Amino acid sequence: MPLSPERVREDIPLTKRYVYLDNCATTPVPRPVVEAMLEYFYDYCANVERGAYSIASLANEKWDRARAKAARLLLNCEPDEFIFTRNFTEGACILAYGLERPLLNRSGGTFTETEPVIKWERGDNIVFSSLEHHSNMIPWIRLARHVGAEIRVVEFDVKSGMILPSEVEKAVDERTKLLAIQHVSNVTGVVHPVEEFVRIAKEKNPDCFVFVDSSQGPGHMPVDVKRIGCDALAFSGHKGPLGPQGSGGLYVKREHLERMDPLEIGGGTIADVTVRDYELRGDMLSKRWEAGTPSIACLIGLGRAAEYVAEEIGLSAVRSREHMLTERLVEGLLEIPGVEVYGETEDLRVKAGVVSFNVEGWSSRDVSLALDQNFSPPILTRAGHHCAIPACRRLGVYEKYGGTVRASFHYYNTPEEVDALIEAVKTLAR
Ligand SMILES: Cc1ncc(COP(=O)(O)O)c(C=O)c1O
Repeated sequence: MPLSPERVREDIPLTKRYVYLDNCATTPVPRPVVEAMLEYFYDYCANVERGAYSIASLANEKWDRARAKAARLLLNCEPDEFIFTRNFTEGACILAYGLERPLLNRSGGTFTETEPVIKWERGDNIVFSSLEHHSNMIPWIRLARHVGAEIRVVEFDVKSGMILPSEVEKAVDERTKLLAIQHVSNVTGVVHPVEEFVRIAKEKNPDCFVFVDSSQGPGHMPVDVKRIGCDALAFSGHKGPLGPQGSGGLYVKREHLERMDPLEIGGGTIADVTVRDYELRGDMLSKRWEAGTPSIACLIGLGRAAEYVAEEIGLSAVRSREHMLTERLVEGLLEIPGVEVYGETEDLRVKAGVVSFNVEGWSSRDVSLALDQNFSPPILTRAGHHCAIPACRRLGVYEKYGGTVRASFHYYNTPEEVDALIEAVKTLAR
């Protein structure tokens, strides 16, 4: 039996005081996850990968177990392909560095550079969509400048808020070396057919590296990197998985990891060092990218969160609950004169639990402030450009409203909370 939403609310004390509808930005951390972190601090607070004494090996064991849990339950990948990060953004930056630089390593006694995973040549291009979060855009703009690649943009469909496969097909060609594309939009809430995007890109160029921004995927729905077929995928632990802020993951196919240079190097990343060279560790590839002492408690928290959301609640239960809440909200908002709802509003099966809207005559920020300050319990929504200025411009809401008001759900939200938001918006729209 999955944990009921009411049971999960018991684990999230914040739900007693607020209608929290900003799960896209970050989620509250449920009690069992906090307890797992407290247990580390109180009972076995020791560094990992260094000590021989008992609590140091216990810390190590728990940290390794957290990686294995997060890798399997959230992405269906192996632990040695799962790099612990602080968030999605760090994952994208690690990858951008690794795709630009040659790998420097001592191998077979010689300390040499080998070719980067992508062999950049004049005339290559990098493709991303205009719906991307800045964190899945800026690293590629900089990479394109460094390697001399052309940037090609897939324009999303304004009405449905979707990235259409036919538009991806038009943008990619045999010179596309990198496609960086999102799984779920944090602005329009659409779940995109990423498997199809991968297939299209690989048909045009089998060596095209496909990176997926799944910041809004794991924890909200089952995600399987093998089925998607991507070369890399990153997410944040503090969103769908209900993990702590400061946790996240980057999956990269083993064959690429073996050839990528880590962004940070130092303690924890090597097998051997002399004063002139070093040999990166090969026992657990992902740890090559985790230089220095990690955020041990946070990552143990992420492992516990993966169990909580995927095993104790169940990802299909999360997905269907969010669908029900989304349907209720979209239908309610569409009936209010003067309210615009963005993205698909008819076939709501393509939506995750994210709804963006505006109220005629109000800036998005003022709506969000009013929802917080004029209602009891306060209704907490996000307002602004959601770190997706190009997307908001294309939707025509950036200059007019300063972006959108966004309500985003997780499993613990209730139909009553949705109704409270609808009633509140009605009073503002009058
Ligand atoms: C689609 C998407 N990509 C990337 C990010 C960046 O995530 P983080 O700030 O955790 O790095 C977010 C955050 O909201 C997001 O929604």
